[in-house]
Amino acid sequence: MTILVTGGAGFIGANFILDWLDRSGERIVNLDKLTYAGNRNSLSSVEEDPRHVFVAGGIEDETLVGILLKRHAVRAIVNFAAESHVDRSIHGPMAFVETNVFGTVRLLEAARSYWQQLGAVEKGRFRFLQVSTDEVYGTLGADDLPFSETNPYEPNSPYAASKASSDHFARAYRETYGLPVIITNCSNNYGPYQFPEKLVPLIIHNALSHRSLPIYGDGRQIRDWLYVKDHCSALRLVLERGAPGSTYNIGGGNERANIEVVEALCAILDGLCPRADGKSYANLITFVKDRPGHDRRYAVNPTRITRELGWRPSETFASGLRKTAEWYLDNTAWVMQAANGTYQDWVARQYA
Ligand code: NAD
Ligand code: TYD
Repeated sequence: MTILVTGGAGFIGANFILDWLDRSGERIVNLDKLTYAGNRNSLSSVEEDPRHVFVAGGIEDETLVGILLKRHAVRAIVNFAAESHVDRSIHGPMAFVETNVFGTVRLLEAARSYWQQLGAVEKGRFRFLQVSTDEVYGTLGADDLPFSETNPYEPNSPYAASKASSDHFARAYRETYGLPVIITNCSNNYGPYQFPEKLVPLIIHNALSHRSLPIYGDGRQIRDWLYVKDHCSALRLVLERGAPGSTYNIGGGNERANIEVVEALCAILDGLCPRADGKSYANLITFVKDRPGHDRRYAVNPTRITRELGWRPSETFASGLRKTAEWYLDNTAWVMQAANGTYQDWVARQYA
């Protein structure tokens, strides 16, 4: 038995693969285009593992995907592959349309052709898991209820619009062709192996390099934070027992304003790695120009996945954030490699 993971050299995909191989003998074929966000070093511990087959390529390559599905008799696809950073989508939306919309539809096409030729048992067992985001639901007011699976899609950034579009296609393939699609919409992940363009690793990396800690606008925007390994455990459950045609929201139950997240990280780093001058890392906080169309609040209601599949996150925000800071301190070689070259160009462009 084999599953096809796309985007497995990225942040969540790599964590998913490492956790999967820790728990299961089942082989993974990992199809990743190795964009700036893909990093094979995240998977160095399973480089020689025969249960992990890495293939460099894009989800938009229907022929390649078709060959992989047949050759490995794949029983499920978990689609992580995407352009994933909101700020980059503001600078250049077309890459998001190419991968998140066209790429996903081509992947769905390859999955459909393969699935339609399977025998009855394999057909019934097959799953296409589309990993999506809470950002497709738009933004919440301070007193609104958290997003549930029945909220309408109201995406506000080009990134969110591209993910909303791919989700609509995934749903349409279920409704039109019967492909056993499941969609998950999760909140902001944090944890090991996250590329340092996103808030948590950016703040850790900048703090340890004694650079300013940029906070957009007033820093009162709220996100619901989910430790990446808790996300992975939810995805494993959905793959195992989720109902085809269903959507599951996955949230950590940790609503925090950005400024609170940054202050909490500074306090952890003050303890783990005190500054030589005795000051707090919080002194490096700098309020910068806001992101255009910046969503004010995301919050996720995970009642369905808790009730139907028994999922609960195992980390609190405090324990997850501490583990994350410790991981970045222990893995400076990974960080330095990720933060070189084109990353510096990105930082110069975004934070000029
Ligand atoms: P990431 O940017 O870290 O990784 C994306 C991976 O996809 C990279 O390895 C990249 O090389 C690969 N990729 C990009 N285009 C590709 C293509 N055309 N074909 C094959 N591979 C390609 O992203 P992430 O944070 O790991 O997110 C994974 C998925 O989870 C994405 O679909 C994202 O929208 C979703 N998501 C992420 C978060 C989060 O907080 N990180 C929250 C909700 C949903
Ligand atoms: P990010 O990690 O980019 O995730 P998303 O935009 O998908 O929620 O950003 C999380 C929050 O942190 C978001 O409200 C934007 C804010 N933010 C900053 O204030 N400064 C930064 O440098 C970055 C990257 C994000």
